[in-house]
This record gives sequence, C-alpha cells and structure tokens, in this order.
Amino acid sequence: MNRLAVDFLGNHLKNPVVMASGTYGFGTEYARFYDPAELGGFSTKGLTLEPRPGNSGIRLWETPSGLLNSIGLENPGIDDFVGRIWPEIKDLDTLILANVGGKDEESYLEAVRRLNDIDIPIIELNISCPNVKAGGMAYGMEPDKAGEITEKVKNVSRHPVMVKLSPNAGDLVGVAKACEQAGADALSLINTLQGMAIDWRTKKIVFDNTYAGFSGPAVKPVALRMVHQVCGAVDIPVMGLGGITTWQDALEFMLAGASCIQIGTAGFADPYAPLAVIDGLERYCEDEDVMLADLIGKAVK
Ligand SMILES: Cc1cc2nc3c(=O)[nH]c(=O)nc-3n(C[C@H](O)[C@H](O)[C@H](O)COP(=O)(O)O)c2cc1C
Repeated sequence: MNRLAVDFLGNHLKNPVVMASGTYGFGTEYARFYDPAELGGFSTKGLTLEPRPGNSGIRLWETPSGLLNSIGLENPGIDDFVGRIWPEIKDLDTLILANVGGKDEESYLEAVRRLNDIDIPIIELNISCPNVKAGGMAYGMEPDKAGEITEKVKNVSRHPVMVKLSPNAGDLVGVAKACEQAGADALSLINTLQGMAIDWRTKKIVFDNTYAGFSGPAVKPVALRMVHQVCGAVDIPVMGLGGITTWQDALEFMLAGASCIQIGTAGFADPYAPLAVIDGLERYCEDEDVMLADLIGKAVK
C-alpha cells in the first residue's frame, strides 16, 4: 500500500515531494545522485521566451539558516526547452512542471503558447521572481495585476496553470483570490522573500542587483503561515513551500492545507534531502496507520 500517494490536478503523484524551480535544473542534473522518478515531481528552472544569461556578479550568499540568491532567471529559453530538453526528460516517471517567467505580458503569453506544442502536465506561472529588473515579481504584487496576467495566460494555454505567489505582496490573500477568480487551476507559494546583504569588510552591497531572494529554513514559519492563510481563502489546490528541510516540515505544510510540497534550498545542502523527507513521511504514516492525503488541512487549534 502506498500511503504517500496524492492527487494534484488529476495527476497521480507517488509522493507529495516536488523539487522547487531553480533548485533542480531540468531533472537530469541530479540523476547521478538518484533516479528523479523517486520524487513526486519537479519544477523546471524558470523558462523565459528568450534565453537569459542571468545576473552579473555574486549570485549566492549564505546566511545563518538561509540563502540569498540573485540568479536572474538564467535559462536556455523556451525553444531550447521544447525542442531539446523536453524530449530528453518527458518519459521520466515523475510529474514535471514547466516554470515560466517573463519580462512583460507578451513574453509570458508567447512562452506559454509555445508550451502548447508539448504535453507538459502543468505550467507553474512565476509572477514572483524578485531577481529580474523587468516583469517578474511586479505581476505578483497586487491582486488586479496578478488576476489580469493569470486570465490572459489561461486564455492562451491548453495546460493547467498553477500560479506561483510572492511572499512580498502586501495583500497575499487578495492576490491568491484574484488568481483563483481569473481561472488559476492551482497555486504554489512561497517564492523567495526579498532580502539583501552588505559585506561589512568591504562596505559593499553584495549583489549587483542590490536586493536578492531569501530562502531556506529561516523562512519556514513565515511560509507556513502564508500557506495556511491562502489555503483557508481559496478552493483550488495549493503546493506549499519555503524552507522545508525535514519530513516534519513537509507534514506541517500539508496539515496547513497544502496538497503537496516543494523542496528547494535544502537540496543544495544535501542532494538526498528529498529522499529523506519521503522516507520519514513513509515511516510516520506506517506508524500512525494513516494515508497522508487524509491529513491535508487537518491542523487544529
Ligand atoms: C538558486 C535559486 C533559484 C531559484 N530560481 C527560481 C526560478 O527560476 N523560478 C521560480 O519560480 N522560483 C525560483 N526559486 C525559488 C524557489 O523555487 C522557492 O520558491 C524558494 O527558494 C523557497 O523554497 P526553499 O526555501 O525550499 O528554497 C529559486 C530559488 C533559489 C534558491
């Protein structure tokens, strides 16, 4: 009996552990550690219409319990994904999400149109990247703008669309509801919190882009609160993430209402972290004699 199986938008996941966008490449990079088919799924690096070299300067900066990144959506572009990468990964026995970013409305829409040529199960619409100068997080900050881009993307996409939300939005629940009303099939949250670093030795701001995205264990309580709030406000499924490192973290996000979870930064510290999460959840469900899916949203006061 598989106690970890979950359903997400009609897809059967063997377990709820999905690797987060930007932390798992296109799946094949991690194949030398373990078979990606052991995962519930993974989300690709953020794809944009044109290839992007990413940001100049320092891109990663460790802090106590967290990581700052300023990658700037480095990626080979949507055509290379559709024509070269997708044929290589499409038969992996795991759920693959295409994470899509954009600098303006048309670049989002055209990237999404080109994904209509392949059978990608879910598009993860990134309206929450804090590391690009144009577009990115700007679409995820206000309910109106988030709803507008969601509706337009839904109109051109033949695939289900999961909108990835920014913890930097002032009215996160408003943004979540606007996306649901605009037709989003699901939501994922959180993307990174905006942070910065200054090197006291040199007195210099560390990142060329000044601000960067903060992730890892330090953000977990904030992410958990946000996932709980959003799950209480919408009727569409939610993938929860932000600082998940252990199986207990994963369980907490599911108790808060997430249908499945994503792991990002923890996989940098230990590539096997997702497998340990899966093992831990399996043992817990066995010991408690429960099906994991039955625990979704079951946190009580
Ligand atoms: C190095 C790095 C690159 C990332 N790139 C993307 C990206 O391309 N698209 C995206 O939606 N999120 C991106 N993220 C955000 C993660 O997917 C995730 O939302 C965030 O890191 C919080 O989860 P975590 O604390 O488990 O890492 C990136 C995060 C990191 C650390």
